[in-house]
Amino acid sequence: MAVEERDAAAARDGAAAAPDIRLENVTKRFDDVTAVDDLSLTIDQGRFFALLGPSGCGKTTTLRMIGGFEEPTSGTILLGDRDVTGLPPYRRDVNTVFQSYALFPHLSIYENVAFGLRRKGVKGDDLKRRVGEALELVDLGDLGRRKPRQLSGGQQQRIALARALVNRPKVLLLDEPLGALDLKLRKQMQLELKGIQNEVGITFVHVTHDQEEAMTMADTIAVMNAGKIEQLGSPADLYERPETAFVAGFLGASNLLPGRLNGEGIVGLDGGGDVRVPASALAGRSGRIAVGIRPEKLRLAAGGAQADGENVLEGVVAERSYIGVSTQYVVETSAGPVTVYAQNAEPGAGQAASPGERVSLAWSPEATFVVDQHEEGTR
Ligand SMILES: Nc1ncnc2c1ncn2[C@@H]1O[C@H](COP(=O)(O)OP(=O)(O)O)[C@@H](O)[C@H]1O
Ligand SMILES: [Mg+2]
Repeated sequence: MAVEERDAAAARDGAAAAPDIRLENVTKRFDDVTAVDDLSLTIDQGRFFALLGPSGCGKTTTLRMIGGFEEPTSGTILLGDRDVTGLPPYRRDVNTVFQSYALFPHLSIYENVAFGLRRKGVKGDDLKRRVGEALELVDLGDLGRRKPRQLSGGQQQRIALARALVNRPKVLLLDEPLGALDLKLRKQMQLELKGIQNEVGITFVHVTHDQEEAMTMADTIAVMNAGKIEQLGSPADLYERPETAFVAGFLGASNLLPGRLNGEGIVGLDGGGDVRVPASALAGRSGRIAVGIRPEKLRLAAGGAQADGENVLEGVVAERSYIGVSTQYVVETSAGPVTVYAQNAEPGAGQAASPGERVSLAWSPEATFVVDQHEEGTR
């Protein structure tokens, strides 16, 4: 067994569910810009981990520091138990796939994938077998002789993936790897990437600004904002229980109704009326807060009927848009405009309430989250 193989095998066996990547108080400044701000993070072995956030929030810089392409201004980066902070990329057991595939145009697909292995002195049957396995993994086993330009965008991205996986890194870093693909191909590649990660079982760290992409693929998501992690959790955690207005707004649509604490598990809305929320959602909060409800969690009743639920708001339909699977309403209430998605389960359901009509909205306390309300407003 080659030294490299033995090391990789030892690392795999010894490190099950152990922390694979650790960032400790990592800061990166470029002149007067703080791209990454005192960030600490642990990613366990075998995770499909997404760094999600708007453009400019520091995702790429974080990834480049893990890969060794950028050195932190301060802080420590560990891979396994090894402090790699000052080490160059080739001395880390990490590979990176970028948005631009960066394939060598004059080399065949086979040689593109073989490139890194040849440089390490792998040759003969060993080389052939390993390139073959990597191409099989991305389902392109029979295209080895072609040149990159003879492949579609999705196929080229799969080759880039095969090339990054062929020398069996402990960690694969992906920076918006599907960004150049059209929507349909992107959706397909999301599922394929997840399948490949399942198969190889190594840690993937995936950078994206697309919340749907992160939720489709990742088992853990860190939402980044201005160089910091705003919240970290499973996709369901982040969606059902966002802790800040930023996270609530970045992952899907939400209604945020301003108010203040009015007792145990009760928020008094600024526009009048009390709503019930889980008591745990109020723990540690004081002052100005906002009650959050996702549009699909609201029930709407028209024609003078009362919607069924513990929390109720009355209002008038200001807008209605039919979008096939659901109908989207904007209802003017005393708490401000409230968006409702009503599922079109029954024929004619999309026309249940008309603009100008009085309606009643209801939802359960369990479907409610709470965020702090800041200066810049929460809606
Ligand atoms: N090499 C660099 N020189 C100067 N500023 C940079 C450099 N790389 C990134 N930045 C700045 O750091 C911030 C974070 O950038 P980046 O990590 O690329 O964000 P993201 O990937 O989330 O879009 C941005 O304000 C960006 O302009
Ligand atoms: Mg980026």
